[in-house]
Amino acid sequence: MQIRRSAIGPIAATLAGIIAVVAWGGVARSQQQDPPADQRPRFSQTGHLVKPVGWEAWVMVGSSTGLSYAAAPPPAAGAAPGMFHNVYVQPWAYREFDRTGAFPQRTMFVLSFYEASRKSAPARAGFYEGDRLGAIEVHLKQAGIDKTGWGFFGFGDSAATAAMIPAAAPCYSCHATEAAHDQVFTQFYPPLRERLARAAAH
Ligand code: HEC
Repeated sequence: MQIRRSAIGPIAATLAGIIAVVAWGGVARSQQQDPPADQRPRFSQTGHLVKPVGWEAWVMVGSSTGLSYAAAPPPAAGAAPGMFHNVYVQPWAYREFDRTGAFPQRTMFVLSFYEASRKSAPARAGFYEGDRLGAIEVHLKQAGIDKTGWGFFGFGDSAATAAMIPAAAPCYSCHATEAAHDQVFTQFYPPLRERLARAAAH
């Protein structure tokens, strides 16, 4: 008995040590940093999302032009391909995603829209982002807000707050079935899809 106990003791201690280290690693990894106050989603007393401020200075993860959700005929030769879309995410959420490979609760994406413009010299061909349309759309990750775990919000030009777009809207079904990762179109956002590809390669 004496011999067996002394043999098991060190093994048990080592095992306990390993378990503690693994558990601590898990806790440290899953521990989510809180967003700074100016990047936090805020709600009005009526439960509407307050339009985010300062998103122009967030991380721009992708841009597209003429990306049509419906089967549309191609633009005529020389015509603008359609509006530009820019996609921004809070710097805090970007860092968390980079660290963990997952979007943290309270992630907000902003989609903004620009006319395709070609008026400026010395450009002789091609299009750049012209005037911005006033409206923006927001995609917010918040557990329980919808069965997908995300809510959509549309802010008109002068809207300070917006009610959540109802769950039956096509926003939810298209994002749920077509978006590459957790309701988000990461396939169109280079830094996010590269991060996911790195994770998949491990
Ligand atoms: C038929 C598919 C489809 C529908 C319907 C749709 N979207 Fe999207 N959404 C996209 C695609 C594709 C992108 C990729 C970025 C882009 O548009 O340039 C996107 C990107 C977004 C983004 C940027 C963050 C992300 O999740 O990728 C927001 C915000 C967004 N959509 C809001 C909306 C809202 C609000 C509605 C409903 C009013 C909606 N979408 C309906 C296909 C769709």
